[in-house]
Amino acid sequence: MTEPTYLHASRVAYDTVAVDYAKLVPPLFEGDLYGRAMLSVFADLVRDSDLGPVADIGCGPGHVTAHLHSLGVRAFGIDLSPKMVAVARRTHLDLQFEEGSMTGLDLADGALGGIVAWYSTVHTPPEQLPVVFAEFHRVLAPGGHLLIGFKAGDKHRHLEHAYGHDLSLDVYWLPPDTVEELVSRTGLVVDARLIREPTESEKPRQGRQAYLLARKPAESSADPDSSPR
Ligand SMILES: C[S@@+](CC[C@H](N)C(=O)[O-])C[C@H]1O[C@@H](n2cnc3c(N)ncnc32)[C@H](O)[C@@H]1O
Repeated sequence: MTEPTYLHASRVAYDTVAVDYAKLVPPLFEGDLYGRAMLSVFADLVRDSDLGPVADIGCGPGHVTAHLHSLGVRAFGIDLSPKMVAVARRTHLDLQFEEGSMTGLDLADGALGGIVAWYSTVHTPPEQLPVVFAEFHRVLAPGGHLLIGFKAGDKHRHLEHAYGHDLSLDVYWLPPDTVEELVSRTGLVVDARLIREPTESEKPRQGRQAYLLARKPAESSADPDSSPR
């Protein structure tokens, strides 16, 4: 099957910037206190579950995967860009990273105890997000958790330069209500969301950032008719 143009463009763009992205972005993550707080909540939810490992999907250079690992989470990374996967592998020798796309994951139904998608859905055209969220729902085990970090807003930009390189990359800002609606439509239940203002160093280029935590409902083994009350 022919790959959609946007996927090819995202892979080429991140292959181009992988080495410089790995120098520039992980230090910014260190300062994202609110995002890290949501990752801590996520870690508390999945750490002791026996539902399966956590996939950091669109992991880039792997710093969020490593952060989850430092929080005691059994995490591995998946990314569309082979160059990003190569950077992640040589930076975090003890962790596992694989090539793959969130539009069609090479994972069995219910294989994961959790998914983190940290600023990695932002290159997917909004009309394709239902495909991605359905895929997240498919690979999560009942009782598993999803955490998405994304740019809040309502705009689309086509970048021709980023991280010191010429490239061609689309970025989408979406209203948190829209993302919540699309996630909920798959059957996932949204448990929490956090929207933060840009920090002083992020202004004026960045706007609000959003973090959404959702869960695939556990399968109920109880027969409601057999309840004693
Ligand atoms: C903005 S970077 C975020 C990287 C990392 N999560 C972070 O927070 O720094 C977006 C990443 O998502 C990856 N990506 C984009 N589309 C993807 C897809 N369909 N499947 C998997 N990864 C994807 C890109 O290759 C890139 O590494």
